[in-house]
Amino acid sequence: MDKTEKITTLAKIVSLCKRRGFVFPSSEIYGGLAAVYDYGPYGIELANAVKAQWWKDMVQLREDVVGLDAGIFMHPKVWEASGHVTNFSDPLVECKKCHFRLRADHLLGEIGVEADEKMSEQEINKLFNENKKKIKCPNCGSTEFTEVKKFNLLVKSNLGNFTGSPDEEPVFLRGETCQGIYVNYKNVLDSTRVKIPFGIAQIGKVFRNEITARQFIFRTREFEQMEMQYFVHPDQELEEYEKLKKLRWEFYKKLGIQEKNLRWHQHENLVFYAKQAYDIEYKYPFGFDEMEGVHARGDYDLSQHSKFSGQDLNYTDPKTGQKYIPHIIESSVGVSRIVLALLVEAYREEKIGNETRTVLKLSNQVAPVKVAVFPLLKNKVELVKKAKEIYSRLKVKYLCEFDDHGNIGKRYRRQDEIGTPYCITVDFDSLEDGAVTVRDRDTMKQERIKIEGLERYLGERLE
Ligand code: GAP
Repeated sequence: MDKTEKITTLAKIVSLCKRRGFVFPSSEIYGGLAAVYDYGPYGIELANAVKAQWWKDMVQLREDVVGLDAGIFMHPKVWEASGHVTNFSDPLVECKKCHFRLRADHLLGEIGVEADEKMSEQEINKLFNENKKKIKCPNCGSTEFTEVKKFNLLVKSNLGNFTGSPDEEPVFLRGETCQGIYVNYKNVLDSTRVKIPFGIAQIGKVFRNEITARQFIFRTREFEQMEMQYFVHPDQELEEYEKLKKLRWEFYKKLGIQEKNLRWHQHENLVFYAKQAYDIEYKYPFGFDEMEGVHARGDYDLSQHSKFSGQDLNYTDPKTGQKYIPHIIESSVGVSRIVLALLVEAYREEKIGNETRTVLKLSNQVAPVKVAVFPLLKNKVELVKKAKEIYSRLKVKYLCEFDDHGNIGKRYRRQDEIGTPYCITVDFDSLEDGAVTVRDRDTMKQERIKIEGLERYLGERLE
């Protein structure tokens, strides 16, 4: 009989995240701020590990991709050129009874009607009205809604507006990181040795005035995006697009996500400039939903920035002399969508006798703590001294934790819940035989290992 139960609800993940210091609601002591979350001590390690893997895969291991870190504030014209000022919106509908604000495309999706945020106001209103009788407000059950309106998601700031005049052009907090890449494309080209095809990668904060604030860290108003924009010759666009799709799928497998929980979703309603658009969806507790977007964007981005800035953003092929505006394919993903997927994927409740152990079976590369070191007893100086020595040695190489609280069973349970792959216990025999007990998170098997061989033992398993 399989002793592993896999009933992963979002409520269980939210509870574990709070209890064990992965994710906290923002400014909680003041009642929280909707759709904003803070990473706690273990959450930040997990998120950092995801970012490090992404950067390694995207930049370090590739000769054709370089990194960038552009500012969050950008010239207001950037967002006009990109189309965000006029088109970056979601369809908002309000319940007439309780005034709950909802996304019309999501309400339609829940009753099995395909709709998305790219539809025109007219199209989505027509669809919404046709299905109105079947749609209920999830808050109060009413079926009375206002008309669907396009609601712009850009977040405005008052940066540089010292007069308080409403006529001043607002400086937005960026709505996606890739605009920083497009406006630096020429700088990168002129200052490095990159040649087409090449990519620019960036990880950074993004802000969106999301209408709905549900689904925990899946949809937040402030989040980190990891984006890679790949500049190609127009004739290479679809071939390179297929290559990128494969790489992105493999990335999730490497992070430990099972293929059965992943699927491709093709966008049916393409924006006019796009050649292809697919999402990688993950099976979250609320169903399959978008984790990452992989898009072939044509020459739209650089053509728009060329037009609005008046700068020539053509690329000149060094061999043929051909001039052209490069086409762009992109990989775009929110860090928290991967973090949530990894938590869901790793979460297990296992029956051990009469007890249930909760364990996060995270892959070694993303586990927030790699090794925990315990002295068997807290009040035995020699045990604590030896355990501290081992901890000090190992922490140079791995994220380690020293724990002497409660009994060993409780310490194991705590480390299981944060996903620590190995726990090391120093006992009285250790002082005699120079060996410690190493316990494996997944099998719970324990082995005696010589202290001087610990680095090798862990190296073979963790690296
Ligand atoms: N540059 C393209 C772009 O930004 P997008 O589909 O709007 O495209 C890309 O966003 C990715 O960013 C999504 O696939 C998702 O992983 C992440 N994302 C978008 N909105 C998010 C939100 N409110 N909270 C967390 N992640 C989000």
